[in-house]
Amino acid sequence: MMKISVLSLFPEAFTGFLNTSMVARALQKGALDVKLDDIRTYSRDKHHQTDDYPYGGFAGMVATPQPLWDAIKANLKEGPAPVIYFTPQGRRLSQKILLDYATEAHVILICGHYKEIDQRIRRLAVSDEISLGDFVLSGGELAAQVFIDGVARLQTGVLSDITSAHSDSFYHGMLGFPCYTRPEVFMGQTVPEVLRGGNHGKIEEWANAQAKLLTKTRRPDLL
Ligand SMILES: C[S@@+](CC[C@H](N)C(=O)[O-])C[C@H]1O[C@@H](n2cnc3c(N)ncnc32)[C@H](O)[C@@H]1O
Repeated sequence: MMKISVLSLFPEAFTGFLNTSMVARALQKGALDVKLDDIRTYSRDKHHQTDDYPYGGFAGMVATPQPLWDAIKANLKEGPAPVIYFTPQGRRLSQKILLDYATEAHVILICGHYKEIDQRIRRLAVSDEISLGDFVLSGGELAAQVFIDGVARLQTGVLSDITSAHSDSFYHGMLGFPCYTRPEVFMGQTVPEVLRGGNHGKIEEWANAQAKLLTKTRRPDLL
Protein backbone atom coordinates (compact mmCIF):
# COMPACT_ATOMS: atom_id res chain seq x y z
CA MET A 1 0.00 0.00 0.00
CA MET A 2 1.29 3.43 -0.94
CA LYS A 3 0.58 6.36 1.33
CA ILE A 4 0.56 9.90 -0.07
CA SER A 5 0.49 12.93 2.22
CA VAL A 6 -0.64 16.07 0.41
CA LEU A 7 0.27 19.43 1.92
CA SER A 8 -2.03 22.05 0.46
CA LEU A 9 -3.76 25.30 1.30
CA PHE A 10 -6.79 24.09 -0.66
CA PRO A 11 -7.47 20.47 0.32
CA GLU A 12 -11.06 20.90 -0.89
CA ALA A 13 -9.66 20.90 -4.44
CA PHE A 14 -9.22 17.12 -4.06
CA THR A 15 -12.80 16.20 -3.13
CA GLY A 16 -14.16 15.25 -6.56
CA PHE A 17 -10.83 13.88 -7.68
CA LEU A 18 -10.49 11.37 -4.83
CA ASN A 19 -14.03 10.12 -5.40
CA THR A 20 -13.60 9.38 -9.08
CA SER A 21 -12.55 6.45 -11.24
CA MET A 22 -9.23 4.65 -10.68
CA VAL A 23 -8.11 6.79 -7.75
CA ALA A 24 -11.37 6.11 -5.89
CA ARG A 25 -10.92 2.43 -6.68
CA ALA A 26 -7.32 2.40 -5.43
CA LEU A 27 -8.45 4.03 -2.17
CA GLN A 28 -11.36 1.65 -1.76
CA LYS A 29 -9.16 -1.39 -2.41
CA GLY A 30 -6.63 -0.19 0.15
CA ALA A 31 -3.89 0.01 -2.51
CA LEU A 32 -3.56 3.73 -1.83
CA ASP A 33 -4.01 6.00 1.17
CA VAL A 34 -4.21 9.75 0.62
CA LYS A 35 -3.95 12.08 3.59
CA LEU A 36 -4.92 15.68 2.90
CA ASP A 37 -3.11 18.00 5.26
CA ASP A 38 -4.16 21.65 5.35
CA ILE A 39 -0.99 23.77 5.62
CA ARG A 40 -2.96 26.56 7.30
CA THR A 41 -3.65 24.40 10.36
CA TYR A 42 0.10 24.39 11.09
CA SER A 43 0.44 28.20 11.08
CA ARG A 44 1.49 29.59 14.45
CA ASP A 45 0.50 33.08 13.32
CA LYS A 46 -2.44 34.40 15.32
CA HIS A 47 -4.47 34.92 12.14
CA HIS A 48 -3.28 31.59 10.68
CA GLN A 49 -1.55 33.52 7.93
CA THR A 50 0.56 31.42 5.55
CA ASP A 51 1.97 34.08 3.22
CA ASP A 52 3.95 37.30 3.49
CA TYR A 53 5.59 39.96 1.33
CA PRO A 54 8.77 38.91 -0.46
CA TYR A 55 12.14 40.32 0.59
CA GLY A 56 13.41 42.54 -2.22
CA GLY A 57 10.08 44.22 -2.82
CA PHE A 58 9.00 41.95 -5.70
CA ALA A 59 5.35 41.62 -6.69
CA GLY A 60 3.30 38.74 -5.27
CA MET A 61 3.28 36.90 -1.97
CA VAL A 62 5.53 34.12 -0.68
CA ALA A 63 4.41 31.09 1.35
CA THR A 64 6.00 31.42 4.79
CA PRO A 65 8.35 28.64 5.84
CA GLN A 66 7.06 27.87 9.36
CA PRO A 67 3.70 26.22 8.50
CA LEU A 68 5.29 24.20 5.70
CA TRP A 69 8.22 23.14 7.86
CA ASP A 70 5.93 21.97 10.67
CA ALA A 71 3.62 20.18 8.22
CA ILE A 72 6.56 18.33 6.64
CA LYS A 73 8.00 17.40 10.04
CA ALA A 74 4.62 16.12 11.25
CA ASN A 75 4.26 13.94 8.16
CA LEU A 76 7.78 12.58 8.51
CA LYS A 77 7.09 11.34 12.04
CA GLU A 78 6.28 7.84 10.80
CA GLY A 79 9.66 7.57 9.06
CA PRO A 80 11.68 8.93 6.14
CA ALA A 81 9.84 9.67 2.90
CA PRO A 82 10.61 11.59 -0.29
CA VAL A 83 9.32 15.16 -0.20
CA ILE A 84 8.24 16.37 -3.63
CA TYR A 85 7.59 20.02 -4.44
CA PHE A 86 5.61 20.73 -7.63
CA THR A 87 7.09 23.66 -9.50
CA PRO A 88 7.54 24.70 -13.15
CA GLN A 89 11.25 24.80 -12.29
CA GLY A 90 11.40 21.05 -11.60
CA ARG A 91 12.25 18.08 -13.82
CA ARG A 92 9.47 17.23 -16.23
CA LEU A 93 7.05 14.55 -14.96
CA SER A 94 7.30 11.32 -16.95
CA GLN A 95 6.06 7.72 -16.80
CA LYS A 96 9.56 6.72 -15.62
CA ILE A 97 9.27 9.08 -12.62
CA LEU A 98 5.80 7.70 -11.81
CA LEU A 99 7.08 4.12 -12.02
CA ASP A 100 9.97 4.97 -9.69
CA TYR A 101 7.69 6.56 -7.07
CA ALA A 102 4.91 3.95 -7.40
CA THR A 103 6.92 1.50 -5.28
CA GLU A 104 7.50 3.93 -2.39
CA ALA A 105 5.62 3.22 0.85
CA HIS A 106 5.11 6.91 1.60
CA VAL A 107 5.61 10.17 -0.29
CA ILE A 108 4.90 13.74 0.76
CA LEU A 109 3.66 16.19 -1.86
CA ILE A 110 3.88 19.96 -1.45
CA CYS A 111 1.42 22.06 -3.45
CA GLY A 112 2.75 25.58 -3.81
CA HIS A 113 0.64 28.69 -4.13
CA TYR A 114 1.12 32.45 -4.45
CA LYS A 115 4.30 33.60 -6.17
CA GLU A 116 6.51 30.96 -4.60
CA ILE A 117 7.27 29.08 -1.39
CA ASP A 118 10.18 30.31 0.73
CA GLN A 119 13.43 29.05 -0.82
CA ARG A 120 14.68 27.68 2.51
CA ILE A 121 11.97 25.01 2.51
CA ARG A 122 13.15 23.89 -0.91
CA ARG A 123 16.74 23.84 0.27
CA LEU A 124 16.17 22.18 3.64
CA ALA A 125 13.24 19.81 3.20
CA VAL A 126 12.49 19.05 -0.45
CA SER A 127 14.10 15.98 -2.02
CA ASP A 128 12.68 16.32 -5.55
CA GLU A 129 11.09 19.06 -7.66
CA ILE A 130 8.68 18.06 -10.41
CA SER A 131 7.03 20.08 -13.16
CA LEU A 132 3.98 19.27 -15.27
CA GLY A 133 5.40 21.21 -18.20
CA ASP A 134 6.47 24.60 -19.45
CA PHE A 135 3.52 26.63 -18.25
CA VAL A 136 2.47 28.27 -15.00
CA LEU A 137 -0.57 27.27 -12.97
CA SER A 138 -1.91 29.06 -9.89
CA GLY A 139 -1.19 26.18 -7.55
CA GLY A 140 0.35 22.74 -7.23
CA GLU A 141 -2.97 20.94 -6.56
CA LEU A 142 -3.49 19.89 -10.18
CA ALA A 143 0.09 18.69 -10.41
CA ALA A 144 -0.37 16.62 -7.23
CA GLN A 145 -3.55 15.12 -8.70
CA VAL A 146 -1.77 14.20 -11.91
CA PHE A 147 0.95 12.51 -9.85
CA ILE A 148 -1.55 10.65 -7.63
CA ASP A 149 -3.57 9.41 -10.61
CA GLY A 150 -0.40 8.27 -12.35
CA VAL A 151 0.90 6.22 -9.41
CA ALA A 152 -2.55 4.94 -8.33
CA ARG A 153 -3.12 3.03 -11.57
CA LEU A 154 0.26 1.35 -11.16
CA GLN A 155 -0.63 -0.13 -7.75
CA THR A 156 -1.40 -3.85 -7.71
CA GLY A 157 -5.08 -4.68 -8.13
CA VAL A 158 -6.22 -1.24 -9.27
CA LEU A 159 -6.52 -1.84 -13.02
CA SER A 160 -8.70 -4.87 -13.76
CA ASP A 161 -5.97 -6.01 -16.18
CA ILE A 162 -2.51 -4.61 -15.43
CA THR A 163 -1.26 -5.83 -18.83
CA SER A 164 -3.34 -2.99 -20.27
CA ALA A 165 -0.92 -0.53 -18.63
CA HIS A 166 1.98 -2.47 -20.14
CA SER A 167 0.87 -1.56 -23.65
CA ASP A 168 0.10 2.08 -22.88
CA SER A 169 2.25 4.90 -24.19
CA PHE A 170 5.78 5.18 -22.72
CA TYR A 171 5.78 1.75 -21.06
CA HIS A 172 8.10 0.34 -23.72
CA GLY A 173 9.49 3.73 -24.68
CA MET A 174 6.93 4.12 -27.46
CA LEU A 175 3.47 5.59 -27.92
CA GLY A 176 0.42 3.33 -27.67
CA PHE A 177 -1.46 1.86 -30.63
CA PRO A 178 -4.92 2.69 -32.09
CA CYS A 179 -7.88 0.80 -30.61
CA TYR A 180 -11.28 -0.18 -31.97
CA THR A 181 -14.48 -1.58 -30.49
CA ARG A 182 -17.90 -2.48 -31.88
CA PRO A 183 -19.52 -1.77 -34.30
CA GLU A 184 -17.35 -3.28 -37.02
CA VAL A 185 -18.31 -0.46 -39.42
CA PHE A 186 -18.84 3.12 -38.23
CA MET A 187 -19.52 6.00 -40.62
CA GLY A 188 -18.14 3.86 -43.43
CA GLN A 189 -14.89 3.17 -41.53
CA THR A 190 -14.04 -0.48 -40.96
CA VAL A 191 -12.06 -2.09 -38.14
CA PRO A 192 -8.71 -3.39 -39.56
CA GLU A 193 -9.11 -6.96 -40.77
CA VAL A 194 -6.25 -8.36 -38.69
CA LEU A 195 -8.07 -7.41 -35.47
CA ARG A 196 -11.16 -9.30 -36.56
CA GLY A 197 -9.25 -12.54 -37.10
CA GLY A 198 -8.16 -14.56 -34.08
CA ASN A 199 -4.43 -14.77 -34.86
CA HIS A 200 -2.84 -13.38 -31.68
CA GLY A 201 0.68 -13.38 -33.13
CA LYS A 202 -0.45 -11.31 -36.10
CA ILE A 203 -2.49 -8.99 -33.87
CA GLU A 204 0.51 -8.33 -31.64
CA GLU A 205 2.68 -7.72 -34.69
CA TRP A 206 0.11 -5.22 -36.00
CA ALA A 207 -0.11 -3.40 -32.65
CA ASN A 208 3.70 -3.17 -32.44
CA ALA A 209 4.00 -1.88 -36.01
CA GLN A 210 1.27 0.71 -35.38
CA ALA A 211 2.92 1.88 -32.15
CA LYS A 212 6.28 2.18 -33.94
CA LEU A 213 4.77 4.12 -36.85
CA LEU A 214 2.96 6.51 -34.52
CA THR A 215 6.10 7.05 -32.45
CA LYS A 216 8.22 7.63 -35.54
CA THR A 217 5.84 10.25 -36.93
CA ARG A 218 4.83 12.00 -33.70
CA ARG A 219 7.64 11.43 -31.22
CA PRO A 220 10.83 10.40 -33.05
CA ASP A 221 12.76 11.60 -29.99
CA LEU A 222 11.50 8.52 -28.11
CA LEU A 223 13.02 6.01 -30.52
C1 LIG B 1 2.15 30.89 -9.75
S1 LIG B 1 2.99 29.38 -9.51
C2 LIG B 1 4.63 29.91 -9.10
C3 LIG B 1 5.54 30.09 -10.27
C4 LIG B 1 6.94 30.51 -9.85
N1 LIG B 1 6.96 31.85 -9.37
C5 LIG B 1 7.89 30.38 -11.01
O1 LIG B 1 8.26 31.37 -11.61
O2 LIG B 1 8.30 29.24 -11.33
C6 LIG B 1 2.35 28.81 -7.98
C7 LIG B 1 2.49 27.33 -7.71
O3 LIG B 1 1.79 26.58 -8.68
C8 LIG B 1 2.42 25.32 -8.88
N2 LIG B 1 2.73 25.18 -10.32
C9 LIG B 1 2.54 26.12 -11.26
N3 LIG B 1 2.91 25.69 -12.47
C10 LIG B 1 3.33 24.43 -12.32
C11 LIG B 1 3.85 23.45 -13.21
N4 LIG B 1 4.02 23.70 -14.51
N5 LIG B 1 4.19 22.25 -12.70
C12 LIG B 1 4.04 21.99 -11.39
N6 LIG B 1 3.56 22.88 -10.50
C13 LIG B 1 3.20 24.09 -10.95
C14 LIG B 1 3.68 25.31 -8.01
O4 LIG B 1 3.43 24.56 -6.84
C15 LIG B 1 3.90 26.79 -7.74
O5 LIG B 1 4.55 27.01 -6.52
